[in-house]
Amino acid sequence: MDNIRIKNIKNNFKKIYNRNCTLLYQAPGRVNLIGEHTDYNGGFVLPVAIDRCIAVAAKPNNENILRLHSLDFNNTVSCKLNNIKYDINNGWANYPLAVAKVLQEKGFKIKGADLVFEGNIPQGSGLSSSAAIEVVSCITFASISGLRISKKELPVLCQKAENDFIGVKCGIMDQFVITNAKKNSALFLDCRNLKYQHIPFNNKNISIVIANTKLKRKLVNSAYNERRKQCEEGVKILKYFFKNIKMLRDITTSQFEKYKFNLPSIIRNRCEHVVYENERVINALRLLKKNKINEFGILMNESHESLKNLYEVSCKELDALVYTAQKVEGVLGSRMTGAGFGGCTVTLVKNKYIDKVIKTMTKEYQSKFGIKPEFYISQTENGAGKI
Ligand code: GLA
Repeated sequence: MDNIRIKNIKNNFKKIYNRNCTLLYQAPGRVNLIGEHTDYNGGFVLPVAIDRCIAVAAKPNNENILRLHSLDFNNTVSCKLNNIKYDINNGWANYPLAVAKVLQEKGFKIKGADLVFEGNIPQGSGLSSSAAIEVVSCITFASISGLRISKKELPVLCQKAENDFIGVKCGIMDQFVITNAKKNSALFLDCRNLKYQHIPFNNKNISIVIANTKLKRKLVNSAYNERRKQCEEGVKILKYFFKNIKMLRDITTSQFEKYKFNLPSIIRNRCEHVVYENERVINALRLLKKNKINEFGILMNESHESLKNLYEVSCKELDALVYTAQKVEGVLGSRMTGAGFGGCTVTLVKNKYIDKVIKTMTKEYQSKFGIKPEFYISQTENGAGKI
């Protein structure tokens, strides 16, 4: 995070609360390279943290109150620690409040504090600004209150906050990578047991280009929760054939092929995506370890096809960005990233061709939809921590 932003958040803290802050923390956004809609099926993911973050300036206040101010929304929300409830009018502040509530439910004693939030992760774009605000809040509350929370436990608490308080039944990927990412690496995570590896991702000739459809996402939560239910439905039926299956992660593609026609067609398609996407992540991991980045890109393209046709979480705007990118010279692979229904695409591009890709994507997208897409060329970053 650059010095101008740091100065700005510190100065604003002083203006708002009339004293200096004592703590500064940040949490990055994330982009997932491959392994979409696999996390809540106990499967594999391969995301990176990006060089955009949410920052918090904070100081304990010796009262049993949380005062939360957002510079981006120019809005303050205060709440007594013993009376935290979801309130739609609290908007963004529901995320830190959700975390405070879950921490208390788990028996952690948290202290009152004044906080200022500021960020440059585009909101509602599928780059995990919500998970970032949860993680940065959790780290801040833990630090202020002297709590010891491990880097495995912290994302689980934040996920619980989102599941129970916000009502989005998200998986663990976002909160986990935001907490545990390492610069110049992708994070390979086994979402069933939370074992992970940092895989070097630092090819100097290749960049990650993120393209934002700028589409206001609608009904994402209900469609997301519906997909999750459909996967669980699939597991229930597959249990007749595989006694030990608990999640879709537990069967291989060949086992699935043998019995898939016992599933109703929509459920079959959803499960087929998940089972093959898990296999793609394992293959992608192998290729990345051998620095076979061209073949890695092909798997990204395949992942998009599957998300579009089988899982049905893409949309015409995402497809337009992806298919335009895939045709440009120097592009290794392109796909939608995150939950879908709008949000962003992720494209791996040889540096020489970045300008060409961005120009082509802008032109095609603008002529089709009359909207200028936004682009972020991102470095991989470390996970959340002190500034
Ligand atoms: C959202 C969720 C994640 C994951 C992705 C899809 O980002 O928060 O847990 O399920 O969608 O891969």
